[in-house]
Amino acid sequence: MKSKALKRRVITRVVRQFGRPHGVTGRVVGWVMAHRGSNRQRNLWVVSLLDVQPAERVLEIGFGPGLAIAELARRASRGRVYGIDHSEVMVRQASKRNAAAIRAQRVELRCASVDRLPRLDEPLDAILAVNSAGFWPSPAEQLSELRGLLRPGGRVALASQPRCAGATADTTARAGRELHDRLTQAGFTQARTETLDLNPPVACVLATNPANGQP
Ligand SMILES: C[S@@+](CC[C@H](N)C(=O)[O-])C[C@H]1O[C@@H](n2cnc3c(N)ncnc32)[C@H](O)[C@@H]1O
Repeated sequence: MKSKALKRRVITRVVRQFGRPHGVTGRVVGWVMAHRGSNRQRNLWVVSLLDVQPAERVLEIGFGPGLAIAELARRASRGRVYGIDHSEVMVRQASKRNAAAIRAQRVELRCASVDRLPRLDEPLDAILAVNSAGFWPSPAEQLSELRGLLRPGGRVALASQPRCAGATADTTARAGRELHDRLTQAGFTQARTETLDLNPPVACVLATNPANGQP
């Protein structure tokens, strides 16, 4: 009985760390995310699906250790990459990983929550979030606000690789359907789901901000 309760407490603490890494444990969590093979594959894959062009302006929400930011900076070589994450530990790790691009003013990372979006001087071409939307306080509201930052025809990609114990392809499919519904309800159009065959698989839902700005 006692050991079950203890196990539950440990799991809750670990999940919390992935939702907002902090302290020494948070640094370890960031290191794990940066070096786990499936995490690296997942982030590179999502960026490749977004098909970012050299002069584009892109925002990532919840960049963690900054793997996708690095790949975005490589692709948007004449553009600009913005990122927000509400974990100071992650901002430090991602800033270290992307130091050269930050110095070159091609990448700008801020410590902020998705419910306090930064003001940007020009509309964005694309927005992404990888294994992050599940932690947002009010995803429906935040997706509508994010749509407001995109140019007409701009793209969004939301990805999920469920990390709960016993997650299977069904868990991923359910997560993909939920993201698809959320994006459609927030007024995005042309939503389509892609799957990467990892264990468990990753679902990435891509959608577009309609050209007339209306749902
Ligand atoms: C599981 S990690 C994924 C990190 C990274 N996207 C990856 O796939 O390697 C979730 C990240 O989202 C961030 N996050 C969670 N809720 C957030 C919020 N409300 N605003 C900004 N970032 C958030 C966390 O701090 C964490 O870095």
